[in-house]
Amino acid sequence: MANIRVNSPNVKYTEEFIEAKYEYQTTKIESADESGIVVSPESHKLLIRTQAKLPKTGVMLVGWGGNNGTTFTAAVLANKLKLQWETIRGVQTANWYGSITQASTVLLGVVGNEEVYAPMNALLPMINPDDIEIDGWDISGMNIGDAMHRAQVIDINLQKQLKPHLDKFVPRKSVYYPDFIAANQKERADNLMTGSKSEQLDKIRADIRDFKSSKNLDKVIVLWTANTERFSEILPGVNDTADNLLKSITENHSEVSPSTLFAVAAAFEGCTYINGSPQNTFVPGMIELAERKNVFIAGDDFKSGQTKLKSVLVDFLVTAGIKPVSVVSYNHLGNNDGYNLSAPQQFRSKEISKSNVVDDMVSSNRILYKPGEKPDHCVVIKYVPYVGDSKRAMDEYTSELMLGGHNTIAVHNTCEDSLLATPIILDLIILAELCARISIKSVSDYTDASNDGFINFRSVLSLLSYLCKAPLVPAGAPLVNALFRQRAAIENVLRACLSLPPNNNMMLEHRFQ
Ligand code: NAI
Repeated sequence: MANIRVNSPNVKYTEEFIEAKYEYQTTKIESADESGIVVSPESHKLLIRTQAKLPKTGVMLVGWGGNNGTTFTAAVLANKLKLQWETIRGVQTANWYGSITQASTVLLGVVGNEEVYAPMNALLPMINPDDIEIDGWDISGMNIGDAMHRAQVIDINLQKQLKPHLDKFVPRKSVYYPDFIAANQKERADNLMTGSKSEQLDKIRADIRDFKSSKNLDKVIVLWTANTERFSEILPGVNDTADNLLKSITENHSEVSPSTLFAVAAAFEGCTYINGSPQNTFVPGMIELAERKNVFIAGDDFKSGQTKLKSVLVDFLVTAGIKPVSVVSYNHLGNNDGYNLSAPQQFRSKEISKSNVVDDMVSSNRILYKPGEKPDHCVVIKYVPYVGDSKRAMDEYTSELMLGGHNTIAVHNTCEDSLLATPIILDLIILAELCARISIKSVSDYTDASNDGFINFRSVLSLLSYLCKAPLVPAGAPLVNALFRQRAAIENVLRACLSLPPNNNMMLEHRFQ
């Protein structure tokens, strides 16, 4: 499908960038108390620039040999080689179902009564998944072909085609501090970096540089898809500021986790770092370091299945004026992630990440909930080896209807966990890369032609919240979990880069005479 071209004096296309004149309209809250709410509309003139040239991009996966890491690598290759394979239902062709950039569309407008949609990745120049180079680390030294087989996610006929390619990929040695992941992971930890934390930091940085130069890359993104770690304690003097965190690494302090060490290395190498697991990799000192180094960080925890649905269902109920009073989620899974999460501290990280997902929706409605009131919310995860990667999620939502009535919705979802997570990994990479090419400038009028004054997204890249279970947002920014609001944010920012107004669904032209 062809790219979209906007025919407007407000959009300028050059070899270097797309520049949009954009009127950003918001609503300012002047006061909000018992006496009422006073608001005023606000409007800001912006110039938005999107660099057009696509950088040659590589991703380094921490946990490359795991189910997600191998499935992602297999999916990139299967799509690139346009592979087809025989299944019990017929011939299957590689695709990117589950990726918003590759397999979802955006409404552009209406012709007569026909709506015109375009693929999301046709809106702005985005890197093509086929062009992404992959590398990474794992504490298990198994090659990616064998590790794909170990994962038991991909159809065996596709595995047979991919294996000769993937056997050539071997994960780099990684950092292993047994205290941070479950003791049961020791069995696979045979590919380990030695040395002090400072030496390991230097080694990770050298690995990033090696990958970048050997593949001739413009940009490297580092993404954690390794096991869930326990939370790090936030200790004054240890990880509360950037300087203290760096000092703690020099002093080999035990509370610096492997994931934080990777994030520090990424920041020093000028790389975006994405955290796909629930732990608090981004301790305050790490956030400060990212801001100081002007690199993106995003996370936490891929929002793949149960939480995604929860952030739709609770939003639907609360915005319908129905009051959820109890949300109970059971999961059982039998992959290595489940094995790791069977240890209490690692389960606790996941429980925390899953538990705050309805908070913003609940606190949005003071008619239903008193201040501080929340639905009961319980999350259970059990390891059941036989079901492998085919995770089961069972949820029960009980809500109060009018006049004391009750409604209970029960949902049972079964699917390969890694086939949900893999397209999310792709979107995180593609959108994070795109965000690095977008900059804005506030102007008083559009005659300002200077190249100065453009600013980038903040280091904490909250635009990726749609893809994250427990979104990290910059200090002082509101946290949004509701899925369609998160998606609308992405879509409308992409539209703004083309000087197109947000999709408001008003359709006034069809509603009045
Ligand atoms: P996995 O257990 O199959 O893979 C994790 C890999 O990380 C393993 O190969 C392990 O050897 C490696 N590893 C552990 N510590 C490491 C370290 N310090 N350095 C390098 N490698 C290390 O797990 P899976 O299913 O791939 O999930 C990965 C992560 O993504 C987990 O934390 C999981 O909670 C998270 N996640 C997964 C979702 C899904 O739908 N699959 C959804 C949300 C989050």
